[in-house]
Amino acid sequence: MISRWHADGLEAALARAGLATFDAIWDLDEGYVEEPNVRRGGWSGVSRIALPFDDGARPVFLKRQANHVTRSLRYPVFGEPTLHRELVRLREFSRLHITAPVPLHYAHTKKAGEWRAVLLVAEVPGRSLTSWLDGYGAASRATKDAVMKAVAEVCRRMWSHHYEHRSLYPKHIFLDDSTSRISAAVIDLEKSRHRCLHPTFHVRDLDALNRRTPRVSRSDRLRFLLKAVDAERVTPAVREVWTRLVERAARRGVS
Ligand SMILES: Nc1ncnc2c1ncn2[C@@H]1O[C@H](COP(=O)(O)OP(=O)(O)O)[C@@H](O)[C@H]1O
Ligand SMILES: [Mg+2]
Repeated sequence: MISRWHADGLEAALARAGLATFDAIWDLDEGYVEEPNVRRGGWSGVSRIALPFDDGARPVFLKRQANHVTRSLRYPVFGEPTLHRELVRLREFSRLHITAPVPLHYAHTKKAGEWRAVLLVAEVPGRSLTSWLDGYGAASRATKDAVMKAVAEVCRRMWSHHYEHRSLYPKHIFLDDSTSRISAAVIDLEKSRHRCLHPTFHVRDLDALNRRTPRVSRSDRLRFLLKAVDAERVTPAVREVWTRLVERAARRGVS
């Protein structure tokens, strides 16, 4: 397990910001973008800070976690810091060209039995799908189709490499419409898993997205599903996925 990792140029940027040591980053007195999570003796908070790069300051996201570990086949007993797991995923997604935040820096310490970990990632351009969905009703057919295409593309790419996101909510999908072609990125990979043997693992991701987009019309849901599974029309296989999504939504309720 790597205990300290930097992307190129990051050591200099951190030094310039007075953040050369683990404790300096850990002790940063910054607000949080969401209420920090406290659970099972662990703690997790995300802040947005400006970092002075060679060519000027840019916003980055700082994730800090204490006693947040994930057990897996690879780390069955003591687990690994959850942010370490996210770093590994981000590097893997970057290698596979699945659009996600660029990882910049990671470090952890273990003192008196307490894990502390920090992860810095670049801000992804654009805005979340949650924010875009606020204007869904007023969006043109062409924009809706372009957004669905972009979201479907990033999902298909992720699934084709056998990754299940496991937290695929609109707030974890970002849309960049700064060019004529809208593109999408996924964030928050800490729960993601590599799925080798399960051929329909992606239905759970589709279900997560389906249940958190209640205002989207039924016909747009079907359009999105066709794009997401790369089908031209409703085949028996598509119908089966659709039925499973409808059943899951009915069972769990839309939240
Ligand atoms: N790289 C990023 N670019 C833009 N926004 C981000 C980025 N990373 C985090 N955020 C924002 O911070 C929120 C919390 O980050 P997230 O990675 O989801 O952490 P958590 O594991 O605490 O849910 C996200 O929902 C998003 O709004
Ligand atoms: Mg999150």
